[in-house]
Amino acid sequence: MVDQATVDFHKEGMRYEFERTAPPDGFPTFPLIPGGRYTDPQFLALEHQYLWKKSWLYAGHIDELPMPGDFMLWQRTGTPIVLVHGKDGVVRAFYNTCRHRGAPLVQTDCGHVEGFVCKYHGWTYGLDGTLLNLRDKRDFPSIDMTTLPLLPVRCERLGNWIFVNEDPNAEPLLTHLGKIPYYAEEIQPAQTRFVHKKSYPVKCNVKVLLDAFLEVYHLKSIHQSTVDRFLDHRGTTINLWPKGHSLMITPNRRADWEDPGARGMRRIETASELTAKNNPSLLFYPNLVTPIADSGIPFILFWPKGPRDMEIEVQWFSPDWGSGPLHPNWEARIANFERILFEDTQFAEQIQVSVESSAFHGMTLNYQERRIYHWHEELDRRIGKANVPPHLAITPVLEPYVAK
Ligand code: FES
Ligand SMILES: [Fe+2]
Repeated sequence: MVDQATVDFHKEGMRYEFERTAPPDGFPTFPLIPGGRYTDPQFLALEHQYLWKKSWLYAGHIDELPMPGDFMLWQRTGTPIVLVHGKDGVVRAFYNTCRHRGAPLVQTDCGHVEGFVCKYHGWTYGLDGTLLNLRDKRDFPSIDMTTLPLLPVRCERLGNWIFVNEDPNAEPLLTHLGKIPYYAEEIQPAQTRFVHKKSYPVKCNVKVLLDAFLEVYHLKSIHQSTVDRFLDHRGTTINLWPKGHSLMITPNRRADWEDPGARGMRRIETASELTAKNNPSLLFYPNLVTPIADSGIPFILFWPKGPRDMEIEVQWFSPDWGSGPLHPNWEARIANFERILFEDTQFAEQIQVSVESSAFHGMTLNYQERRIYHWHEELDRRIGKANVPPHLAITPVLEPYVAK
């Protein structure tokens, strides 16, 4: 649980940010971020191979497959993956691919099965992926069925949240997340309940919109009548962590401010002052941004769909509200959040047009936008220095500012 020393550390950080008249002494000026990192097909192919195919990515909440036999199909990296709740209570992930000739195991987005039966020639598998039976076994005289289980995908949990990773050699999720589980613990990930999800297509490279959620420099202009009224970006403190993760805490303008959208909703008692009186936003690298609150948690997810197409997906979770229906204010709360989301997305398509233009020389970031540069530094580390085309590489400058 976040302790008092941690709370004091961040409060001191906010006080420092309010009072400073310039970036800290010696803080580097960022080199330009080349526009080609948002458009170049070769670079985007590297990003797909080394980032999206090898990252821990959020896939679903246990409430979406609560019972043994419940499954959901997840296809965000382009390869269909089925998540299934096993008879032993473990949620596993498999490629949705029969070991015979590759037909799909499931064809609907979600459902319930006792086991998987391939519809092509009837091979059957257990919920744990074991190949149980095949038709006309006499015609596979030398087959060793134990060598043909469903192909597993790494699948691990932070509380009720389920993540997958297509890299079989990835480090365990909780190790990879570093300090994130410590900060997330106060909102009790194992107690959260699923509320709602919705996706919004936007015609831009996925990074154009991700960038917008890594800084609060834009509050005074595009959120003037919304977020800027209750958050004060001048006190925003940022913690950069290894592996691209980060935390940004923006203070409420007034200590007694209360989110009107959350009025009457259950609060998480274990939430610290940091969460109850400020707006802490965690980045689970690469694509999950969550501004946690003690009354509800939105996961803002950024999914690539093509070089200049993406989807932004918002999933909402609530503290356990016990028996009975969801609080009636949730509908208005989600609609209000959607309005803010549209403020954020309004320039994305035009920014994409700009970065594709030969007139665009690169992005000029300031101190407040350092999470964006940190994000890109990590991308180059994942791709590997030797693989990044030199004209699209960025010079790492933030290492001294990453908390170990
Ligand atoms: S492809 Fe599945 S049984 Fe033939
Ligand atoms: Fe915003």
